[in-house]
Amino acid sequence: MTVAPIGVMDSGVGGISVLRELQRLLPNEDFIYYADHAHCPYGGKSRQAIVDRTVAITEELLARGAKLIVVACNTATIAAVEYLRASYPVPFVGMEPAIKPAVAQTRTGIVGVLATGAALAGEKFHALVAQHAGGVRIITQPCPGLVEQVERGDLNGPQTRALVEQYTRPLLAAGADVMVLGCTHYPFLKPLIAEVVGPEVVLLDTGAAVARQVERVLQRESLLAVDGRGGVEWLCSGDPQEFAAIRARLTEFSA
Ligand code: DGL
Repeated sequence: MTVAPIGVMDSGVGGISVLRELQRLLPNEDFIYYADHAHCPYGGKSRQAIVDRTVAITEELLARGAKLIVVACNTATIAAVEYLRASYPVPFVGMEPAIKPAVAQTRTGIVGVLATGAALAGEKFHALVAQHAGGVRIITQPCPGLVEQVERGDLNGPQTRALVEQYTRPLLAAGADVMVLGCTHYPFLKPLIAEVVGPEVVLLDTGAAVARQVERVLQRESLLAVDGRGGVEWLCSGDPQEFAAIRARLTEFSA
């Protein structure tokens, strides 16, 4: 039992899609959320640049007493989580694109994965596909520009729709009936993506599964809180007012 907070990090607001699942499952915990707004997006950065950013954020979260850190960003997890686990004494829980459940659910044998370029290029991602694909064809689609649209709070405008159409078209044409949302920003676009791809296509993200994993780790390490309030301390590397404004827009749109 502890009163220390859970640290949650992302390149921007995407990790809030995971934070919401954490708050739902663990209402007695407190959280510190760090948005690396000034360095967003991570998707076009080198592995080393992403590792360096996650190290800086980890130091900040640990200085504020975080007992566990959720790397609520697929790109950062793929690039850096092993390094972080080897370097710091607290548990880290990372994101894992939903390849395994997608393979279990596809009927056409074709799964599409929407994610950032850096995530799709990562060794950890390739290992995940090699482990779970079996006979299923996994088609990957990098989505430059989508994270920026979410960061602008533009979840269904014409520009965002055009990008979603552009990125899902090849997957639909190939016969994908399951699409993995392999970036924590994309759950905010789920209503739009669902509208574009139609009701026959299943959209999968892993926010809820990651929250359950956090609960298991807290239990295992005897770190569960009993008297937190689900409060969040918001930190960011960019302009805090801008960050607050985007949060408000996301809440308004997808509460
Ligand atoms: N939310 C991050 C992810 O899950 C976005 C990465 C980026 O900043 O490009 O991959």
